[in-house]
Amino acid sequence: MPLVNLKTVLEQARREGYAVGAFNVNNMEQVQGIMMAARKNRSPVILQASRGALEYTNLVYLKHLMQAAVEENEDIPVVVHLDHGTEKAVDQALELGFTSVMIDGSSLPYEENVALTARVVEKAHKAGVSVEAELGTLGGIEEDVNGQVQLTDPDQAVDFVARTGCDALAVAIGTSHGAYKFKGQPKLELWLVTEIFQRTKLPLVLHGSSSVPAELVAEINKYGGRLIHTQGIPVEALQAAIGNGVAKINVDTDIRLAITAAIRRVFAEQPEKFDPRDYLRPAREAVAELVGLRMRQFGSAGRI
Ligand code: G3H
Ligand code: 13P
Ligand code: ZN
Repeated sequence: MPLVNLKTVLEQARREGYAVGAFNVNNMEQVQGIMMAARKNRSPVILQASRGALEYTNLVYLKHLMQAAVEENEDIPVVVHLDHGTEKAVDQALELGFTSVMIDGSSLPYEENVALTARVVEKAHKAGVSVEAELGTLGGIEEDVNGQVQLTDPDQAVDFVARTGCDALAVAIGTSHGAYKFKGQPKLELWLVTEIFQRTKLPLVLHGSSSVPAELVAEINKYGGRLIHTQGIPVEALQAAIGNGVAKINVDTDIRLAITAAIRRVFAEQPEKFDPRDYLRPAREAVAELVGLRMRQFGSAGRI
């Protein structure tokens, strides 16, 4: 039974004290690289399709790519998840057989987020599909001071969970999407994870959790890239969050960096190459290496 829903996977993760990585996919090489890592590390895995992925291709392609991974890896629990979904995308995902959806009402006024999420939970649960919701908005801590970003409020989280019935909650504790997360030193409000988990008992989700490895940034720049100095979320901070209630950790940017470094290297060192397989193969291997490392760091390796 390799195709599983999020609730099942996260309940086991919470029971055993680890987190499952949720890795964004846009193409075949990303799906294959992630599954290579899951096989090698004996880890459950969450494959997820973002809003940008839907624009780049579409949900039908993405579902079939993920389904191929499920069918080829019968002994690996795989969650097929919609990341940052709208209600329209959720409806399509339910029709296509996704086992988990995120409804992202985080930018709506609170009561509208509650109403939207509760509506989606009702539909999804009828189909045995899990729902991740979000409360608060992501961004750097400094933006919170400017009032542009809102950290998750624990009192509101208790009310939100009770009124929506969601299966997992994405919380804003100072992480943000992309490669440029912090202006200075990384600063996260980890106490919020502890408090929200203790009061809701729901598996929590961290978005914007790439660590932005300096060696990958250096490799990209060595081969002609021009990324400016940046810092991601330290792995130790993620591990502390896992200990306090985080069970799903979203990683997209680190995969993008790994792919770009691998492809740039081929272009720089073997400029005569023009067969896409010559650079997509090392890119796929770089995905597997990065994802395997995260599986071991999040503690999901060796669980199946
Ligand atoms: O949602 C999180 C993703 O990292 C953003 O990805 O650019 O594919 O929407 P996207
Ligand atoms: P990163 O940009 O830090 O990889 O976050 C990805 C994410 O949260 C996808 O939903
Ligand atoms: Zn996200």
